[in-house]
Amino acid sequence: MAEADKVALVTGVGKETGLGFAVAQALIDEGFTVLVSARQPEAAEVLARTLDPKSEGCARALALDISDASQIRTAVKTISNDFGKLDVLINNAAAMSPYGELAATADLQAARQVFDTTLYGTWELTQALLPLLRKSQAARVVNVSSGAGSHGDTVFGLTTDNQMGTSYAVSKAALNALTVKFAREESADSIKINAVCPGFTATFDGAENMGARPPAESAKGVVWAAMLPTDGPTGGFFRDGEVLAW
Ligand SMILES: NC(=O)c1ccc[n+]([C@@H]2O[C@H](COP(=O)([O-])OP(=O)(O)OC[C@H]3O[C@@H](n4cnc5c(N)ncnc54)[C@H](OP(=O)(O)O)[C@@H]3O)[C@@H](O)[C@H]2O)c1
Repeated sequence: MAEADKVALVTGVGKETGLGFAVAQALIDEGFTVLVSARQPEAAEVLARTLDPKSEGCARALALDISDASQIRTAVKTISNDFGKLDVLINNAAAMSPYGELAATADLQAARQVFDTTLYGTWELTQALLPLLRKSQAARVVNVSSGAGSHGDTVFGLTTDNQMGTSYAVSKAALNALTVKFAREESADSIKINAVCPGFTATFDGAENMGARPPAESAKGVVWAAMLPTDGPTGGFFRDGEVLAW
């Protein structure tokens, strides 16, 4: 299959400085047609145009709030009608929780909302897209996770004193576990499903001064997992192509 025929969906492409935008750009550079999705339809439109300034068809906007089942159904119908399959799904969208949010005092209503997006939204979207992913010759799913939800990250991880929001960290740990379950179930269909921590990335004001790297750098490890060869891993957790303990 020619690379030009390959179709990828990236969720949570809400701003030009985000990781999702950098991943979408990198996949276009690899020859994919990228569905640029965001929960704000106008943002998706503007960013798709930015990625495809000459209207060559390499980027297409898609309105998608992954916590909304009806929007998921509509998106799946659109992809099915327009492409008939999906080669790459980048589950990049995530809900954040406040830095310093503690297990002892967290607002559980807010914590449930974090899970509704990061875990259940990703889960529901992946379930809904499986029939289209199974139509690809070599589908790849990348769940963008975080070292905050792992034991392996010595700076932001679960066993450090870093006060990354608890619901954010726990939802990413759950996402890593979900990745393993999906990967085992889908291995017979040649679908590889991995979790990737992009590393500390300058997607918000001031992050660069705190040592974060540019989104384009972090995108490389995500795209690596999106383009794994047939003998590549599945069900793993990686950063920059290296295994990260979870
Ligand atoms: N930046 C880092 O250092 C870092 C480190 C580790 C992991 N990550 C992960 O990398 C991914 C991208 O993060 P980022 O740094 O680029 O931050 P970001 O710009 O805040 O990206 C998160 C995106 O998810 C979108 N989103 C939230 N809820 C959604 C929903 N229900 N449906 C669809 N989209 C939704 C947001 O949309 P709106 O724009 O509409 O709010 C936003 O565009 C996330 O999974 C994050 O956990 C980032």
